[in-house]
This record gives sequence, structure tokens and C-alpha cells, in this order.
Amino acid sequence: RHFLQTLGRVTLVTIIGASATFYYIAQKERHPGPQLPFDPSKKTLVILGSGWGATSLLKGLDTSDYNTIVVSPKNFFLFTPLLPSVAVGTLNARSILQPTRYVTRHKSRQVLVIEAEAKEVDVRNLTYLASNIKLLYNVSRLTKLLRSQANDSEIQGQISSTTIPYDYLVYAVGAETQTFGIPGVREHACFMKELHDAEKMQRRFLDCVESAAFPGQSDEEKDRLLHMVVVGGGPTGIELSGELRDFLEEDLKSWYPELASRIRITLVEALPSVLPSFSKELIAYTERTFKESDIDILTKTMVKKVNEKSVLLKGPDGVEREVPCGMVVWAAGNTARQISRDLMAKLPEDQTNKRGIAVDDYLRMKGARDIFAVGDCTASSYAPTAQVASQQGSYLARVFKLIAKKDKLEADLAHAETGEGAEKLKKQVDKVKFKPFHYSHQGSLAYIGSDKAIADLPIFGREWTSGGVATFMFWRSAYLSTLFSLRNRSLVAGDWIRVKLWGRDVSRD
Ligand code: FAD
Ligand code: NAI
Repeated sequence: RHFLQTLGRVTLVTIIGASATFYYIAQKERHPGPQLPFDPSKKTLVILGSGWGATSLLKGLDTSDYNTIVVSPKNFFLFTPLLPSVAVGTLNARSILQPTRYVTRHKSRQVLVIEAEAKEVDVRNLTYLASNIKLLYNVSRLTKLLRSQANDSEIQGQISSTTIPYDYLVYAVGAETQTFGIPGVREHACFMKELHDAEKMQRRFLDCVESAAFPGQSDEEKDRLLHMVVVGGGPTGIELSGELRDFLEEDLKSWYPELASRIRITLVEALPSVLPSFSKELIAYTERTFKESDIDILTKTMVKKVNEKSVLLKGPDGVEREVPCGMVVWAAGNTARQISRDLMAKLPEDQTNKRGIAVDDYLRMKGARDIFAVGDCTASSYAPTAQVASQQGSYLARVFKLIAKKDKLEADLAHAETGEGAEKLKKQVDKVKFKPFHYSHQGSLAYIGSDKAIADLPIFGREWTSGGVATFMFWRSAYLSTLFSLRNRSLVAGDWIRVKLWGRDVSRD
């Protein structure tokens, strides 16, 4: 009895302690303290983007060294690895967003956040000394994101475009989805890149299901409406197919029992196998799991055209056939944004790689003096992943600390009298050394549906592969800990519990 009483007390104290810590951290996140104002003597650092590269730079940056300005058409960071979960309602959209101001308001010096799309970047090289970026305030995108699709109102201030100067620019605008100019993709397919893509897909999917449930629909039309085609067997296509299958098995079978058996998911991949960046065992494991889950994989098959109610496929035999479907999700990889192509065109001798911005070992844009580039907008030997972008962002935060130090020493040197003091300063300047960026691969993880995930992890210099339910638990805990704030962690964990208890929502407005 004494033991039980002690255990009870210890448990109570632990719960109270944990709740108090949770409350303290939440309040600290919620109520940031005062910040230093902009200092005209400091250099201006402009960061384009609020994605993985930009946000991890912001996290590590010592803003007391610079007047920092962040420009992005989205005033938030999107945790992309969990985007497919939003598309089927496992997670609420808000759970994987982190407003950029939640990050910048915690910095020592104020950071100006401008919600706008950069339209043009002036490059300062040795001959051309203008350094401005032109911005166009994009209200329609803001409205689309923050308001429901039923509300079309647009609010615009008197000024909707401006030009801001920079001393240093970090270019982190990411990439857009590659369509290869295939007809009908932009008009009829859904993408899986931005938050509004996931929301659009969710609406489209439920639209197909409700349309199929309409009385009098022919069997042939039901089969068409309930056929979901996912294009691209990379990690995005695989994860999305797995999430769709979970939605079907765990929820739709209960709420649409008469239709559920008709729902089909087909994954189309042009290469001989899916997930080319994963090990052979994990590819085979994924294919087996998909087979058991009734997800059809068509490899060596190209989508040649997307129509309103069908896709045109060219199979391994070279024969083209039209396949009826209700929804097409296009996850066929990345390509450079127009603004990146325009920027590269300004330095044609140095920027010759069509895939993206070429950078040197220090992530400096080749040919430009003051521009650094990170993440998916660059063309490098690394895969376009969040892991790479966030490591590059953290690296640049360290680089900017050194640049500030060097700039200050050089300014002091310029004002110093000749003699011993100047010599000392010169030595200090020479001591500031920049190390090249080094990427440390932490492994690859992907969710494949049915509460299973796959992992390729480098452990003690060897590749360790694993797939299954335990890996799924690891996948969840890895992403929960990678989320940037306690707020996001609690929202995501809450959503997982909600779905376990009550299932996914099938209502739509
Ligand atoms: P992004 O994160 O795309 O950020 C680009 C930013 O630039 C955005 O804020 C955008 O609004 C802004 N921007 C765009 N145009 C302009 C402009 N003109 N002016 C100013 N700002 C602009 N990687 C992994 O490592 N693991 C995963 O599990 C994983 N899962 C993924 C799942 C999905 C569905 C997707 C789509 C990708 C996933 N990735 C994953 C890849 C990862 O998301 C990208 O590699 C990563 O987002 C790249 O970071 P970035 O900063 O370069 O670009
Ligand atoms: P991807 O480039 O990895 O895969 C796209 C696939 O689409 C390719 O295999 C390509 O052959 C196929 N394809 C292209 N055109 C086609 C067509 N017309 N018909 C049929 N198939 C076609 O793109 P994805 O999956 O969007 O990933 C982009 C990046 O994000 C990658 O670097 C990936 O590693 C990363 N990512 C990582 C995740 C993870 O680690 N869990 C999850 C999602 C993305």
C-alpha cells in the first residue's frame, strides 16, 4: 500500500512537472520579448523564401549582425514531409504550418517579413553595380490560401509593388512541379507541392466519391469516378498512394460501404521501378505492400496526356491506351521556377545548368558577388530534399556570422592608422576562414501506407534498411521531433490521436 501511495505521488508530481514545463515553453513561444530595432550601420540581408532552406537559416542566424528582410509569397513555413497526410485529412492543414513571424519574432533584432513574390533579382557582379530586387505584392495568392474558396474578396493596399536593396541575398525559392509540357497536366491534374494542392486534392477526391454516390450513376461511370491515378513513383507519389489507401481502408469502407470496393488506386511510373533512390530490398518491400493493399503499380509506363476524364498511357510495349479516371495527381518531380531561370539568364557564362542555380562549395551563386542559393532552386550533386536544404540553411547561418565578423574587422582596418594596430587587425582578418559546405546524409524515410514505412539509414558507415510497422513508429517519431515548434508537435500528435479515435472527416464545403 505504501508503495502504491509513493507511486501515485511520483506520478502526480511528474504530470504536474511536465504540464508546467509544457505551459512554460508554450507561453515563451507565444509571447516573444522586445527586439533590437534596425541599425542603419548594419548591412541588409534579404532572404527570398520561407521554406526549408530559408527557415533553417533564420533559426540559426544571429540577426544582431544584420538588418534582415524575409520575402515570400507565403507568410509561413510548410512542413512538406507531412503534406500527403493533409491531402486525405489525417492531419489538419494548420498543424504543419509555422507562421514565419513565429520564428522571426524570437530573434534578437527585428526581422522584416514581407508577404510578396519576388519578380526580379538584380545581380551585382564586377561590372554591374545595381543591387535591387523588385517585388510584386500578390494578393490573390494570399486570398486563396487564407480564405475558403467560397470567399473571392481581394483586399489590396495602395501600394502593391516595391523595390528593396540588399547587401547580401539568400536565394531559397525552391522549385516547382515538372510537367514536361505534357498536355492537360496543368488543366486537369492535381499537384502535391503546396498546401493548396493538398487541399484541392482532398476536395477533388471527395467530389469524385460523392458524384459516384449520386443516385442513378451507371456502374461504368462509378468505376471511372472512383479510379485515382497517381503519376510518379518517387517518394511523393508513393506516400500519397499509401495515404489514399489508408483513407479508403480505415474510413471510406465505413461511410461509403456500397462504393468502397470500387475505389482503385493506380500508380504510374516511367522508369523500370518505383523509388529509385531507395535500396532494392525496400523497393521490393514497397511493391509487395502495394500489391497486398490492391494498389496497382504500372512501371515503364509514361503518361502522355491528361484529359478531363482520362489519362493517355504508353506502356512498355509502346502501345498507347486511354484509361478513364476521376482524379489524376501529378508528382513527377521538380523543375526550376521562372524567376530562377530569369536570374540564371543574367549570368549566362557561369549559369549553364538548366536544372537550377549553380553554386560554388560555399553556396555562393556562381558569377554573382553577393548572392547565396540553397535548396531545391540549386543544381548540385545532392537530391532536392528538405534534409539538404535545411543543412544548407544552417551552414549559411554560420557563414553569415563569419562574414559579419570579417566585415567588421575590415571596416576597423580601413579606419585604423598604419602600424602595429593595423597589422594586428590584418592578421585577424586573415584568420577568418570559411569552410566549404559538407552534407551529412541522415538517411531516407518514406511512409508507404498500412501503418508501414521504409527506411534507408547509414549507421556506423553501413547502410541499414528496414520496413514495416516498427519503422512506421520510427518515421512518426522522427518527423514529430523534426517539426520546428512545440506548437506544431502538439497539433500533429493531437491529429494522430483524433484520427485513431474518430477517423478522418469526409465532410466538405
Ligand atoms: P521550399 O521548401 O519549397 O521553399 C521555397 C520557398 O520559396 C517557399 O516558401 C515559397 O513560398 C518561396 N517562394 C517561391 N517563389 C518565390 C518568389 N518568387 N519570391 C520569394 N519567395 C518565393 N524532403 C525530405 O528530405 N524528406 C521528406 O520526407 C520530404 N517529403 C516531401 C513531401 C512532399 C509532398 C514534397 C512536395 C516534398 C518533400 N520533400 C522531402 C522535399 C522537400 O520538401 C524539399 O526538398 C524542400 O522543401 C526544399 O526546400 P527549399 O527551401 O529549397 O524550398
Ligand atoms: P521524383 O523526381 O523523386 O520522382 C518523380 C517520378 O516521376 C520519377 O521517378 C519519374 O520517372 C516519374 N515520371 C516523370 N514523368 C512521368 C510521366 N510522364 N509518366 C510517368 N512517370 C513519370 O519526384 P518526387 O517524388 O516529387 O520527389 C521530389 C524530391 O523530393 C526528391 O528528391 C525526393 O527525394 C524528395 N522527397 C522525399 C521524400 C522522402 O524522403 N520521404 C518524400 C517526398 C519527396
